[in-house]
Amino acid sequence: MRTTQRITIEQIQTAADLLIAGKLVAFPTETVYGLGADALNPHAVKRIFEAKGRPSDNPLIAHIASHEQLRQLAIEVSPLAKLLIERFWPGPLTLVMDKDPDLPDDLTAGLDTVAVRMPEDPIALDLIRRVGRPIVAPSANRSGRPSATTWESVLIDLDGRIDGVLCGPPTRIGLESTVVDTTTDEPVILRHGAITQEMIQRVWPSGRSSSTHLGLGPIPGSNGPAASEVQVDFARRSPGTRHRHYQPKARVVLFDSIDQLGELPLAVGILAIASKSDLHAIESDLSGKYPGAKLCVCSSFDDYAGRLFEFFRECDLENVPTIYCQRVELSGLGRAIMDRLDRAAG
Ligand code: TXA
Ligand code: MG
Repeated sequence: MRTTQRITIEQIQTAADLLIAGKLVAFPTETVYGLGADALNPHAVKRIFEAKGRPSDNPLIAHIASHEQLRQLAIEVSPLAKLLIERFWPGPLTLVMDKDPDLPDDLTAGLDTVAVRMPEDPIALDLIRRVGRPIVAPSANRSGRPSATTWESVLIDLDGRIDGVLCGPPTRIGLESTVVDTTTDEPVILRHGAITQEMIQRVWPSGRSSSTHLGLGPIPGSNGPAASEVQVDFARRSPGTRHRHYQPKARVVLFDSIDQLGELPLAVGILAIASKSDLHAIESDLSGKYPGAKLCVCSSFDDYAGRLFEFFRECDLENVPTIYCQRVELSGLGRAIMDRLDRAAG
């Protein structure tokens, strides 16, 4: 056990000093809290895997605060990567690129590519600038658990296992960044996030997605390879997707509409979505029908994404055995929400 320092935003230099000394410090980004370490310190990178209980074949994302830092990580920035960087950095978009061969092997899990992101959160950017080197940061949760969107949730998973947590506000988006492979001549989305498939297609119209719940095929109108080829290729390219993910202790059951819920045991969690105008009616309907239930009715995809992981964690704290989650439409941020829900229901 080590002591985990609670560090206020005013003490941000303390967090930077710990990182420079090769320690592990969790910090906020606009997506979820990250567990930071100096990306160029192999010992610190190794410790991240131990603290999280993360399988060593799952590579990390390196976070940067300037375009110069990209040169320490990638040997080549393809025209596709350049375009996505211009349009979406800083922001919730991670790009997979050909790596500099001198990078610690653990960082990239032995792959010849590296994942890089320039976050837009001012606290994250300030911290990386103070350290002066790229910072690796997987989501700050024990491996397999839902990501943490508050510093309190970071501590529930990692207190005594890391050296510090920078206590910032809850994260704005609540789901992890979009991951896009840019090593081929068209973008392939390896993980959906707040930079949506539609936003990427507007920049690069032939882009396709390999995510399982999209049917593993090329998106309509593109001439990508057959589904089976994409599936094999996808497992190779995105090692993280092989592992258990986003799972609360509770069992997660998905449903389409509230009318389908029927009789439920007393203590359950219900996560639903309604239009702003129906919100109150649906809330009172559900609390009348299921008086013992823990309810969370969201008013938009943004709201759903922002509250999903924290609701899972609240249900776990109260030992709720089953959480019923409403499916959403597969468009925009809905793809990222459904990806996390499908994996949580696993
Ligand atoms: O929003 C985020 O991305 C957060 C914040 C802290 O920035 N970080 C995050 O890291 O979600 P993590 O480690 O939980 O997820 C990283 C994902 C994994 O699915 C991993 O497999 C993938 O990125 N990844 C990393 N390097 C890769 C590479 N070289 N090729 C393909 N996928 C890679
Ligand atoms: Mg993660």
